Amino acid sequence: MKVLVATEKPFAKAAVDGIRQIVESAGFELALLEKYTDVNDFYKAVADADALIVRSDKVTKEVIEHAKNLKIVVRAGAGFDNLDLAACTEHKIVAMNTPGQNSNAVAELAAGLMVFMNRNMFNPGTGSELKGKKLGIHAYGNVGRNVARVAKGLGMDIYAFDAFCPKEVIEKDGVKAVASVEELYSTCHVVSLHIPATKETVDSINYDLVNRMPKGAMLVNTARKEVIHEADMVRLLNDRPDFRYVTDIKPGNHDELAEKFPTRYFSTPKKMGAETAEANINAGLAAANQIVDFIKNGVTKFQVNK
Ligand code: 3PG
Repeated sequence: MKVLVATEKPFAKAAVDGIRQIVESAGFELALLEKYTDVNDFYKAVADADALIVRSDKVTKEVIEHAKNLKIVVRAGAGFDNLDLAACTEHKIVAMNTPGQNSNAVAELAAGLMVFMNRNMFNPGTGSELKGKKLGIHAYGNVGRNVARVAKGLGMDIYAFDAFCPKEVIEKDGVKAVASVEELYSTCHVVSLHIPATKETVDSINYDLVNRMPKGAMLVNTARKEVIHEADMVRLLNDRPDFRYVTDIKPGNHDELAEKFPTRYFSTPKKMGAETAEANINAGLAAANQIVDFIKNGVTKFQVNK
């Protein structure tokens, strides 16, 4: 039984060591494909794999078609928009994620980006504080909850909108649940995005929505670039000298934004929300355990293509 870890952006060594230990203790073999730049290398490596662990690596129809023995693919992380679920289902491959395992790392980065922007990107000059500012958490899942916990420590006034999470669950954390996404943006100085990229959310963060935000607005994206309407971000930054946009996922129009709005737009060079040893260990080991549990005991908890 061969388990392939295919990670263009590799896990920390401690995570790989942990994965190896779990896989080999189960009597399986581990294969590693790290930092690959040619998709053909992925096709070759997956050809005889029974199980696959990836991060944001695109598991396309073509990858699936090369994977003749594949029974399970686990996205070590939360968002599974990189997996072609229809192709997995068609080839009777179980697809899973590891929800919650890297959410604290992403939440800490979201808070860090807020501070960074409020302090002039660490350039000299007068900044502002987060204490007392209204924070809107757009989607109250694992990351959103962690952002609320961290923001509480910063003394922020916290609001959240989640179409699927009951109001009582949000309010139990001392967070104000608002009734609509429009209300969230109209109320909050800072909005932190934690929605997945789906048919419904792609391009949904648009001019009309974000323009509702009060003066001194900041949009923080540690979710997915696809949810942002990119042309609308240019318009917003043009029309509102008070508006700032910070993202952990470089947009398609990064060069234009960086050139036109160097003090109000910032993108990390490469998505780093989950780039901590702790998150790598949590998500990587969970993925390996889920594979062993599925192959040995048929456990399909966390399956996302049911
Ligand atoms: C996730 O969906 O889990 C995060 O976006 C992390 O993605 P990464 O594994 O590519 O860092």
